[in-house]
Amino acid sequence: MEIINRRQRMASLSKKIRRENKTVGFVPTMGALHEGHLSLIVEARQMCDVVIVSIFVNPAQFNEKEDFNKYPRDLTADAAILANYQVNYIFAPEAQEIYGENFSTYVYVENLTETLEGASRPGHFRGVATVVTILFNTIRPDFAFFGQKDAQQVAVIQRLTTDLGFDTEIVVAPTIREETGLAMSSRNARLSAEERQRAAVIFQSLRQAKIAYRGGERNASRLAEIVRQTIEAEPLARIDYVSAVDAATLAPIERIAENPVLIAVAARFGNVRLIDNIILNKKQ
Ligand code: PAF
Repeated sequence: MEIINRRQRMASLSKKIRRENKTVGFVPTMGALHEGHLSLIVEARQMCDVVIVSIFVNPAQFNEKEDFNKYPRDLTADAAILANYQVNYIFAPEAQEIYGENFSTYVYVENLTETLEGASRPGHFRGVATVVTILFNTIRPDFAFFGQKDAQQVAVIQRLTTDLGFDTEIVVAPTIREETGLAMSSRNARLSAEERQRAAVIFQSLRQAKIAYRGGERNASRLAEIVRQTIEAEPLARIDYVSAVDAATLAPIERIAENPVLIAVAARFGNVRLIDNIILNKKQ
C-alpha cells in the first residue's frame, strides 16, 4: 500500500493501471474510518483489481467552520486500518493540491441540492460535487463506492456522473449500523456515551415508519409524522428535518404509489448533527 499526496502522480498511476486492463475501484472518504467505510472497501476489493481510497477532509463542503475544524483527522490510524484491507493506494492530498491558487470552478447540480441536507447546509453539495468531480477526473475509476446513509449525496453523484459523462459505475452499499441501530458515522465519536445510546431513536423511528408502511399506510406525510413523533419523544434530540420524498428526484410526495420513497431525517444530539434514512417501496 502506498500513500500518494500529489494529484499528478495519482492520475498517472491510475492511467497506468487502466492501461494494464485492470479495473480501478475508488472509495472516496474524509478519513476517520469506521465500519461503514470498511464495508465499501470490502466490496471494492471483491469487485476490482486495484482499490484506491481517498482521504481528504474537503473544506468546500463544510458550511460551519467549527464543524470543519472539529472533523477528526488521523491519517496514520486510518492508514493502519487500510493496510489490513488490501488497499493498493491511499490518495491523501493537501487542500492546495485540490484547490490550487485562484481556484474558481465549482460543480453545481441543480434541483437535487436545495432540499433536505442542501436546505440545512447551503453550499454543502456544491462542495461535494466539486471535489468528487476533481477526484473522478484524477482517478477515472471504473467503480466508485458510496453508502446509502448519505442518500442525497448518492443521488447528486449519480446525476453528475451521468451529466458529465464519467465512465464510472456508482455502487451503493447499505448503511452499516452500531448494535443499537445508530447509523455508523465519523460524527458518532463526538457524541457523549448517553447521547450515543439515545441517538438510536433515529433508527427506531424509521423502523416504526417501515412497520406502518408494511401495515398498509401509504400516506407519506403520516409516515413522516410517525418518524417525527418518535424522535420528539426523546428529550436529547432536536429535529432538523423529517421528509418523505421520491427517492430518485427528491421531490416531496403525498402518497406512496409506483416509485421508491426516501424517508430522510436529520437531528441534533448536543452539537452533533446526525442523518439517516430508509427507502420504502423499493423495486426488488
Ligand atoms: O461522504 C463523504 O465522506 C464525502 O462527502 C465525500 C464523498 C468523500 C466527498 O468529500
